[in-house]
Amino acid sequence: MLVLGFESSCDETGVALIEVPSDRSQGAPRLLAQALFSQISMHQAYGGVVPELASRDHIRRVLPLTREVLAEAAVPLAQVDVIAYTQGPGLAGALLVGAGVAVAMAAALGKPTLGIHHLEGHLLSPFLSTDAPEFPFVALLVSGGHTQLMRVNDVGSYEMLGETIDDAAGEAFDKSAKLLGLPYPGGPHLARLALSGNAKAFDLPRPMLRSGKPDFSFAGLKTAVLTQVKRLGETPTEQQRADLAAATQAAIVEVLVRKSLLALKETGLKRLVVAGGVGANTMLREQLNAACGKRGIRVHYPELSLCTDNGAMIAMAAAMRLQRGMADLQNDGGFAVRPR
Ligand code: KG4
Ligand code: ZN
Repeated sequence: MLVLGFESSCDETGVALIEVPSDRSQGAPRLLAQALFSQISMHQAYGGVVPELASRDHIRRVLPLTREVLAEAAVPLAQVDVIAYTQGPGLAGALLVGAGVAVAMAAALGKPTLGIHHLEGHLLSPFLSTDAPEFPFVALLVSGGHTQLMRVNDVGSYEMLGETIDDAAGEAFDKSAKLLGLPYPGGPHLARLALSGNAKAFDLPRPMLRSGKPDFSFAGLKTAVLTQVKRLGETPTEQQRADLAAATQAAIVEVLVRKSLLALKETGLKRLVVAGGVGANTMLREQLNAACGKRGIRVHYPELSLCTDNGAMIAMAAAMRLQRGMADLQNDGGFAVRPR
């Protein structure tokens, strides 16, 4: 079977084609080709994603990207068996582009569609790497909109262990970065600035670190960063900015590491999967690897390029559902997006 997948929930247009052996004994799904267009530079001028501009750009990009993917895989569109798309969560107008294109293509080809939960895509993205994890595992999902720890028993069997009560980890990175005058999305920029900083120069809070539960709260950290930015005044030195960036990153990473360890201890599992954009953070990877290494825990990450939004993870989630007979295929041309 061939699955074409579309991702358009936020500011990346992603398309991918995956080959799926219908029986799991015949092997894992295989990525044939993928293409991605990031709108980041377009939104940077506004300091964040402008939903209307995002939708319009998805419309501009989605068909050229699809042609690119099909050409690279040397597969004619008519051979595609299932068309998957991100159903949510995300920006409503942006989601509608991927869903609309998927459903229209499927109707024209007489093929079914499959709506995929964006976070399931992130969660299963490590299965795109050669060193895929085995079930069950603990998943730390850290993106711009979500921060969750889950027990993942198998595809579709997810138990929430804890989540953020306010801001997501990516949001904490992005909002702090904005306060430091860094461009959108701030996470990678803040991480880069932090390289030349001293994390101990500022004492920032680690909210809920000792709550004893794998829950998170990052709103207080953002407020603390704001207080420090105000204290530094109009013209902080480069070193002060780097120090504050380093302290912010250290606070976020420490909380993520400690809570992941707590979830691993609670479940008794020895495998951790880290997914979502913040999973690209080098300091998070280093500290998780060190802490887990000491405890005999294996940590799996998606490839760096697949940490942030992409079409491959959506096609992969669809493929894994299809292989398990768990795909809720639609044939009637109807579709719904679920922004929340
Ligand atoms: O998963 P993702 O691409 O989109 C959502 O579904 O939200 O995650 C985007 C988030 C942004 O907040 C971005 O700043 C953050 O991931 N991010 C990082 C890094 N790369 C991306 N945060 C910290 N360090 C990074 N290297
Ligand atoms: Zn995402």
